[in-house]
Amino acid sequence: MTRIKIACIGGDFVGPEVINEGIKVLDCLAELSDINFDLLEIEGGGNYYLKHGREWPDGSYEICTEADAILLGAIGHPKARLPDNNIAGANIVLGLRFGLDLYANIRPTKLYDGVKHKVSEKFLNVWNPSNINFTIIRENTEGLYSSAFPKSPEDIESASKIIDNRIITQEKSQRIIKFAFEYTKTNSVGSPMDGRKRLTAIHKNNLLRGCQLFTKEFYSIASEYSNIEANDILVDAFTQDILRSPEKYSVCVTTNMFGDILTDLVSVMAGGMGMAPSGQINGWLPSSNGMFEPIHGSAPDIAGKGIANPLATILAISMMLEWLSQKRKSSKLSNIAQNVENAVQDLLRERKYLPIDLGGRTKTSNIGTRICELIKLKSP
Ligand code: IPM
Ligand code: MG
Repeated sequence: MTRIKIACIGGDFVGPEVINEGIKVLDCLAELSDINFDLLEIEGGGNYYLKHGREWPDGSYEICTEADAILLGAIGHPKARLPDNNIAGANIVLGLRFGLDLYANIRPTKLYDGVKHKVSEKFLNVWNPSNINFTIIRENTEGLYSSAFPKSPEDIESASKIIDNRIITQEKSQRIIKFAFEYTKTNSVGSPMDGRKRLTAIHKNNLLRGCQLFTKEFYSIASEYSNIEANDILVDAFTQDILRSPEKYSVCVTTNMFGDILTDLVSVMAGGMGMAPSGQINGWLPSSNGMFEPIHGSAPDIAGKGIANPLATILAISMMLEWLSQKRKSSKLSNIAQNVENAVQDLLRERKYLPIDLGGRTKTSNIGTRICELIKLKSP
C-alpha cells in the first residue's frame, strides 16, 4: 500500500469547484490501485478572511509542511485585502512559496490534439498542435517579488515614491539554472522542431544588471551539459518569437516577474488559462516539497455556475504524481501520472465533453466524471 498525504486547499470561487474534480480523479486512481491518498482539506483564502478575519485556520501551514504534496485551487476575493494591501490569501500562496522555498515554478504549455488555441479567431487552426510543447521554468523566490512579499510597514507608509527592488543573486540564479538544466535532461522530450533538448534563458541583459548576472551564470552552467543546446533571448523578442516559431522551444528559464507574465501570455497558445497547470517545487529529494495548482485565478465572474474548466487542475495532478514518482523512484506512480494525462488527451480528442471555455457545453463536474471513465477504460 502506497500512502500519499495531500494538503488540499480549494480557496476561493472556482478554486473549490476545480479541486472537487481533482479529488474525484484521485479517488478514481485510488480505487484502481493500491495507493491511498490521504486528503487533508484546508479552508482558506479571501472568502475565509472576510468571515474569520484571518486567511486560514491556525495550524494549516504546519499541515502543508508535513504533507507529501500540496494541491491548491485558486485564491483571491476582489474585496478581501490585508492591512498591507496584499490580497488576502497572500500568506497562503506566497507564504507557502517563500516559506517552503519552492524556488522552481514549472509551467508547461502544451496544445493538446483537439484543442484550438486562442490567439485570435483569425489564426484558428493555423498551428499544428504538436508544435506547441514547451515549458517555462520561473525562478520563484526572488526578483521583483522580493519587495512584494513579505511587505514591510515602511513600504506602505512612503506612498509618494515607491521603489520595487528587484533582487537577483548569484546563488539563486545558479540554483534555478541548474534546476532547469537537470529538468531539461530528465523531463524534456526535446523541441517539436528537431527533437533536440534545448534550454533557453529569457532575460533583458541589454539593460538590466540582474539579467547580465543571470545570463553569465546560465552560460557557465551550460558548459556542464554538453548534450543540451543552450541559447538565450531578450524577453521582449521572446514574446513575438514564441508566437511565430513555438516549435523551436523546449525548456526556458527566466526570472520571477518575467515568468509570471510570460506564462499567462503563452497559455493562450494552449487554449487559455483553463489548460495551464503548474508545479512549484524545490527538487526531487525524498524531503523536497511541492505545491501544484492551475495557473488561473479564482474567476469570481464564472463561479457558482459549474462552468469552470477543471483540466488545468487535473493536469497539475498529473504533474504532482510524476514529481512524487521521481521523489520516490516509483514507476507505478509515473504510469499513473501518464494515465491521467492520457485521459485528458482522450477527452480533448473525442470532443464530446469539452468545457465551455474550449467551445463545448460540458459542466465542470461532468468533465471530472468523464476523465475518471476514460482512466477506467484504459486500466487493466
Ligand atoms: C501566479 C499568480 C501569483 C503570482 C499571484 C496570485 C501572487 O499570478 O501564480 O502566477 O504572481 O505569482
Ligand atoms: Mg500569474
